[in-house]
Amino acid sequence: MIDSGLLDRAGRRITLRPVDDDNWRAVADVAPRDDQREWVAALAARYLLLTERSDVWTSLAVYADETVAGHVMWGVDDDGSRWIGGMVIDAPQQDRGVGRAVVRTLAGWLADQDGGHPVRLSYHPDNASAARLYASLGFVPTGVMEDDEVVAELRPA
Ligand SMILES: CC(C)(COP(=O)(O)OP(=O)(O)OC[C@H]1O[C@@H](n2cnc3c(N)ncnc32)[C@H](O)[C@@H]1OP(=O)(O)O)[C@@H](O)C(=O)NCCC(=O)NCCS
Repeated sequence: MIDSGLLDRAGRRITLRPVDDDNWRAVADVAPRDDQREWVAALAARYLLLTERSDVWTSLAVYADETVAGHVMWGVDDDGSRWIGGMVIDAPQQDRGVGRAVVRTLAGWLADQDGGHPVRLSYHPDNASAARLYASLGFVPTGVMEDDEVVAELRPA
């Protein structure tokens, strides 16, 4: 479990846990709002399949206390950089501070790993709420675009 002790705005503790026999159905059912589907998969099930089929990515269940509230995954690129991807907060759980706590928790955990590798993520340029969230946490666009997405890197505060 990755637990930085962060809470959402309702005081629920946000933790990141392995996807296991008990929670995988709830994680697979995590879905964004309909208007967000142009930027991310319609269901987190797509990301679970990606992590099953890939050596790069590892999926994590996002918990708010004991409720599954989202999906996020992390990976290591060929250059050693650490990546955050597949972040979806279940539509009814959005705008409560869960996403902010997830990025802070996972980015901090990845930044603390040995080697001092950069922490990166990417987002669609039209995804304003994701762009605002990442910028407010210290992610700065690198100038590189990947698959039509802006690549941003965490810079020390
Ligand atoms: C982007 C996303 C992960 C944010 O998660 P969330 O739990 O709703 O976010 P939070 O409640 O923690 O809000 C964090 C910040 O996001 C931004 N944000 C959230 N909702 C927003 C909205 N409706 N409009 C504008 N900005 C918004 C704000 O900057 C907010 O800052 P604040 O904490 O000062 O209010 C969530 O909206 C989501 O799952 N979107 C669909 C999938 C997606 O786009 N994933 C990212 C792919 S790169």
